[in-house]
Amino acid sequence: MSFRTIEWRDDKVIMIDQTRLPGEEVYCEYGDYKSVAEAIRGMIIRGAPAIGVAAAMGVALGAREIIADTPESFLRQLDNVCDVMARTRPTAVNLFWAIERMKRVAAEHSDRSLDEVREILKAEAIRIEEEDLELCKAIGRHGAALIPEGATVLTHCNAGGLATAGYGTALGVIRAAHEAGKNIQVFADETRPWLQGARLTAWELMKDGIPVTLISDNMAGFFMKNGEITCCVVGADRIAANGDTANKIGTYSVAVLARENNIPFYVAAPTSTLDLSLENGDQIPIEERHAREVTHLQGLPVAPEGIAVRNPAFDVTPARYIAGIITEKGVITGDYTAKLKALVTP
Ligand code: MRU
Repeated sequence: MSFRTIEWRDDKVIMIDQTRLPGEEVYCEYGDYKSVAEAIRGMIIRGAPAIGVAAAMGVALGAREIIADTPESFLRQLDNVCDVMARTRPTAVNLFWAIERMKRVAAEHSDRSLDEVREILKAEAIRIEEEDLELCKAIGRHGAALIPEGATVLTHCNAGGLATAGYGTALGVIRAAHEAGKNIQVFADETRPWLQGARLTAWELMKDGIPVTLISDNMAGFFMKNGEITCCVVGADRIAANGDTANKIGTYSVAVLARENNIPFYVAAPTSTLDLSLENGDQIPIEERHAREVTHLQGLPVAPEGIAVRNPAFDVTPARYIAGIITEKGVITGDYTAKLKALVTP
């Protein structure tokens, strides 16, 4: 891929600034954990797996800022760093998964010197990034088989290289099908209000030479009813034990439209996006973001001043609308409760 979403370089965390794409390809450098937390909150980096990687790297930076003379004091201060990271965005479970993994590694090595623990945490954060890239490629390999030759694939939001350590989940499936030589094209929903589809999915697919057509969100039904969409593939922020899936606001509408038009609707996500502690999607916390994302476009008002606004950033698609969940371990269909459990049981 011709861009790097996030990397650890010279004890700094480097991220492509996703608030400035597609106009400018700017890389930001972070040397402390609080600014990484701000970058996650401010959507410099976004997408469930990518914010998991960012949180892990933030924890590794935080470990370097801690001054402690006992392992207990170090772990206590690391907990505070983790709390700051955990308060950035509530819906994507990958964030909490990555933080817990970092905490566990720190606790397992707490008998080592402070310098050693810092190095171990840095290595773990880099490992999470490297693993994510491999997981996305495996998701791509499994999912590509579901995409027929000549397909037009509708996707929502950005579940691409920009939302992961690279390659993507939903876009990983599309990339893998394209790389396998299938003649496919993508319809990208613009994804109001933050425009991840228009600004990010369109940008990264065009960069890779994958045919992509941009549509506004309210056009999806038109193209489905016209017989122009073969299947839908989206990413996920959190998947409950019964398969109910939280993803970018508007995903639920796409899934219902797909069912009405007999079009298969697939979710692509790594198993780190599963939250089997939640029985169903009603229990998934949904982030509500600032009204300005709805009232303004590129800084310009598109609504009267003072208008009441709601801005949930995610919705939950009930499992019954999902034709298959594509993970790095394979595609599961049907009885999600039993099959998701089996997927993570060693
Ligand atoms: O608010 P965002 O841009 O972080 O939301 C991102 C999404 O909803 C993605 O579809 C999801 O995180 C999957 S990314 C592989």
